[in-house]
Amino acid sequence: VDTLVTAARGGGVGPASPVRREEPWPNDPYSKGSEVGGRYRSLRALLAGEISAESVVATLKDSGLRGMGGAGFPTGQKWSLVAGAQPGTVKYAICNADESEPGTFKDRQILAEQPHLVLEGLLLGMAVVGAEQGWVFIRHEYGPEEHVLREEISALREAGVIGPDAYGSGRRLELDIFVSPGGYILGEETALLECMEGHRGEPRNKPPFPGNYGLHGRPTLINSVETFADVPVILQRGADWWQAQGIGESVGWKFFAVSGHVTNPGVYCVPMGTTVRELIDTAGGVLNGAPVGAVQPGGASSNFIGPDRLDLRLDFASLAEAGTMLGSGALVVLAEGTDLLAASTNVLRFFRNESCGKCVPCRVGSTKAHTLLSGVLDSRSELDDAGRGKILQLEEAMRKTSICGLGQVALGPVVSVLGLAKGGAAARPHPKPDGAKDQPDR
Ligand code: NAI
Ligand code: SF4
Repeated sequence: VDTLVTAARGGGVGPASPVRREEPWPNDPYSKGSEVGGRYRSLRALLAGEISAESVVATLKDSGLRGMGGAGFPTGQKWSLVAGAQPGTVKYAICNADESEPGTFKDRQILAEQPHLVLEGLLLGMAVVGAEQGWVFIRHEYGPEEHVLREEISALREAGVIGPDAYGSGRRLELDIFVSPGGYILGEETALLECMEGHRGEPRNKPPFPGNYGLHGRPTLINSVETFADVPVILQRGADWWQAQGIGESVGWKFFAVSGHVTNPGVYCVPMGTTVRELIDTAGGVLNGAPVGAVQPGGASSNFIGPDRLDLRLDFASLAEAGTMLGSGALVVLAEGTDLLAASTNVLRFFRNESCGKCVPCRVGSTKAHTLLSGVLDSRSELDDAGRGKILQLEEAMRKTSICGLGQVALGPVVSVLGLAKGGAAARPHPKPDGAKDQPDR
């Protein structure tokens, strides 16, 4: 299998991926020269009965692995919930590779460089919960990565790792790829399910969660690319090893896409608990040595933090305590002098455009807020007290009444910028020069 899979991904495998090529993740237990060696080893052991499904779940629970799609739900707990749901029924597993948040491109690199970890994690999940069919739901713009995955899946099928008699175990394990028709909201897990069922891609009310009521009403295990990729690493190296990798109280490793005003934008894998400052330094520091103006530590939906918070640790708890979040694993750095109100309004415009329109507060609120803020920006004026009041009201209404994360967080970045500015005026240290235009709306 190793040879086949390696050959399949070797030179001339298809269109070159535009993602930056880095060395494989140093913790990949199957990387060249590793003392462990031999890919898909944990899957083979599970299917051969050398390790049990219960012990896989126990290891994940002991490791403390949490969902890396953003919300941080404990992975071992999710796997055990799906394994125990509706005994005897058909179940499914899906890898959510519909990475679409602005500034977020870490999963893309994992898919391009280490598809074997993602697919082994997905196959392990299928075997543990009792699913025969698994899918990778992939963003349609990720053509080169889809190609890499298809090659890997073909190689697995040819080698008998998947198919009607996976690894000679008598169990059927099948993998396929579902290419997202497009639209940010399809990355929300229940909109993804609606889409796969052939319906309009709108989120469902939760609960029930997909672990109980997922694809076609069947229990469905859904994890992100990074979460699945972590699973074989933890099974090979052990829960204690993963626990020991973070910094301080933080656990494990974390991929971040770093972008904005940094010297070397790209994907970096660092110990969980690395500080914002350390990650910016790892990416070569702020462009031209400028001071930091503000940072979004967890992608477009996370609240901005100011330059006084650069020693904040990048982990679930520290960022939540600081009023922001780890989110989609994207650190967006803005240099001092950037028009923060314009930047956050740009983020809001994205959410307004991508709102599926199912709930009124999100559909109407995002439009109202964007109209108000773009009026302020276009007239090169400041947001007055009445305007601030309206934005705060809209933010509260959307946060409390929208049914999915998009509407709940859409105005967070704007409000966080108003807070950083302590009065609004400072939110626009450098209003747009005459003639400068926003990007055209879609
Ligand atoms: P969520 O908190 O509703 O759920 C997280 C996961 O845990 C889901 O899989 C859910 O089914 C499961 N879950 C939660 N409570 C459960 C329970 N009681 N029983 C069983 N399962 C349960 O969060 P959501 O809306 O799925 O994700 C939001 C996150 O996604 C945000 O943090 C955001 O940053 C991130 N995100 C990531 C993007 C990306 O491109 N990677 C894009 C947009 C958002
Ligand atoms: Fe759709 Fe917005 Fe409601 Fe989410 S919050 S379901 S994106 S309208």
